[in-house]
Amino acid sequence: MYELIEQARAAIAGRLLVTPKVGLILGSGLGGLADDLEQAAVVPYAEIPGFHAPKVHGHRGELAIGLMEGKPVAAMRGRFHFYEGHSMQEVAFPVRVLKALGCETLIVTNAAGGLRPDWQVGDIMRISDQIFLPGMVGNHPLRGENDDRLGPRFPGVVGAFDNELVPLAREVAAAQGTTLREGVYCMLSGPAFESAAEIRMLRIWGADAVGMSTAPEVIVAIHGGMRVLGFSLITNLAMPDGPPANHAEVLEAGEQAKPRFSALIRGILSRM
Ligand code: HPA
Repeated sequence: MYELIEQARAAIAGRLLVTPKVGLILGSGLGGLADDLEQAAVVPYAEIPGFHAPKVHGHRGELAIGLMEGKPVAAMRGRFHFYEGHSMQEVAFPVRVLKALGCETLIVTNAAGGLRPDWQVGDIMRISDQIFLPGMVGNHPLRGENDDRLGPRFPGVVGAFDNELVPLAREVAAAQGTTLREGVYCMLSGPAFESAAEIRMLRIWGADAVGMSTAPEVIVAIHGGMRVLGFSLITNLAMPDGPPANHAEVLEAGEQAKPRFSALIRGILSRM
């Protein structure tokens, strides 16, 4: 894998006008968050070794590297999902490449179902912790031989979401009049949305939001020693007695929240 990371890095690095310091993963419907980068280089995933063309509607497939609020970022417009058939290693591979390109911080975003009845569609939740269910039962991106050049065999995960960016995110949200929820994100494989019994189980487990991404990318970022900040856009409420979730509402909520979400990310970047 080390060689493939280097090949991907080399395929991208030659085209860059800036060296990215912050990696940004844009989830369902949020790809437009980094549309207007300055000094941008845009590399289609198809041209990056180890990357795949996206198959999910609402996900673009390109890496855009440039300045956002004057900060050099590498924005993934679209990500890979386990439910598409990729292995967890493939899902998290781009994070290795972001790190190799120079990113020390990873900002992850996703669309998620809210598990708290008092929350609303359009709420933004900072991910204060995660439950990586597929990883807990064996679908883990660090399974297999460890490459010590990339990180430790047994990385610690407690406290991974606690860093200096958290108070910053809270301040920026408050200044913008955006309520910033905080909670635990649980990743399930998908692609089916949860059953009523699964939703009840997730609530008992202490999850506040549920989705089908992010956790493997976060684990690999931690493994590589990156600083992590994560946000979920609550695109629907996952309620045991509610209507079933659907992909159209997920994209619609992403579209609605884009200005607020974008302002939050930009505000954080501007003060980093
Ligand atoms: N469940 C799982 N993934 C999701 C949801 C949901 O309700 N909403 C957006 N992604």
